[in-house]
Amino acid sequence: MEYNFDDQEYEWFKDEFYKLSKLNLNKYKQDQMKRRISTYVYRRFKLTYKEFMKLITENEYEFNAFLEYLTINVSEFFRNIEQWDILKNEILPILMSESKGGKLKIWSSACSSGEEPYSLAMLLTKHLKGYDFEIVATDIDEGILKRAKNAVYKLENFEKIPDEYKQWFIAKDYDMYEISNEIKSKITFSKLDLLKDIYPADLDLLVCRNVLIYFIEEAKEEIYAKFSNSLKNNGILFVGSSEQIVNSLDYELKAIKTYFYQKDKK
Ligand SMILES: C[S@@+](CC[C@H](N)C(=O)[O-])C[C@H]1O[C@@H](n2cnc3c(N)ncnc32)[C@H](O)[C@@H]1O
Repeated sequence: MEYNFDDQEYEWFKDEFYKLSKLNLNKYKQDQMKRRISTYVYRRFKLTYKEFMKLITENEYEFNAFLEYLTINVSEFFRNIEQWDILKNEILPILMSESKGGKLKIWSSACSSGEEPYSLAMLLTKHLKGYDFEIVATDIDEGILKRAKNAVYKLENFEKIPDEYKQWFIAKDYDMYEISNEIKSKITFSKLDLLKDIYPADLDLLVCRNVLIYFIEEAKEEIYAKFSNSLKNNGILFVGSSEQIVNSLDYELKAIKTYFYQKDKK
C-alpha cells in the first residue's frame, strides 16, 4: 500500500517544514514533490507525516538527510559533455572578447557536491589562457556544500573524464580522487537559496543547470528576472538540458546557442 498526502496534510507539512528549514516547498512542482515526500516518509520510515515532522525536528541528522533527498543532489563532472564543448569552443571566445582585462566573475548557482564548479575551473584554467577568473559556487544544502569543499570523489568511471583535465584529479585509494589545490583555490563555496536570497552581481557567466526543472513557472520567472539583473551586459547564462527559456527576451536574455543565453540590454 502507498500512503499519500491529502491536500490538508500537505499544506500543514509545507508550513511546518518552512518553519524548520526556511525552504519554500510551494515553489517546487507539487505532484513531483508530494510523491517524493510520501515515498520517503512511508517507505523509509513507515511514519505518519506528523510523526515524521517530529523526527526531523528533533534529529538533526535525519533533517539533513531529508533535505538532501528533497533537493536532489545528483551531479557529475562535465555532465552532458556536449554542452561543455559548446562552452569551450563557442562561448569562451565571447567571454574573452567582452572581458576588459579584469577578472572574469562566474557563479555556479546550484552547485551540489561541487562537480560543476570544479569542471568549470578546470575548463577555464585550460582554455582561458591569460585571463584570470573567480567562481562563486552556491547551493541551498549545507551538507552537500561540505562535501563540495572537501573535494574528494569516488569516480568509478574516471576514464570518462576528458584527458585534458585528468591532471587535476589526484588519485587516492579505491577509485577515490581529490581535486588539486590549484583548482580548489579558484572557488568560494557558500549557502544561497535561489528562491529568496540576494544574488551575486556583475557576472560574466552564470551557470544554473538541472535545478530549474523542479520549480513551478512563477518561481522560474522570478529567478530568470533576477539572473538577468545579476549578469553584466553581454554576460552569459548557461542552463541545463530541458531548461530552455521560452520567452527569454522578456528578461533581456537572447538565445545564442542551445543552453546559452546572452544578456542583451536594449
Ligand atoms: C540535480 S542538482 C544539480 C547540480 C549541478 N548543477 C548539475 O547540473 O550537475 C540540483 C541542486 O539544486 C539544489 N537546490 C534545490 N533547490 C534549491 C534552491 N531553492 N536554491 C539553491 N539550490 C537549490 C540542490 O540542493 C541540488 O544540489
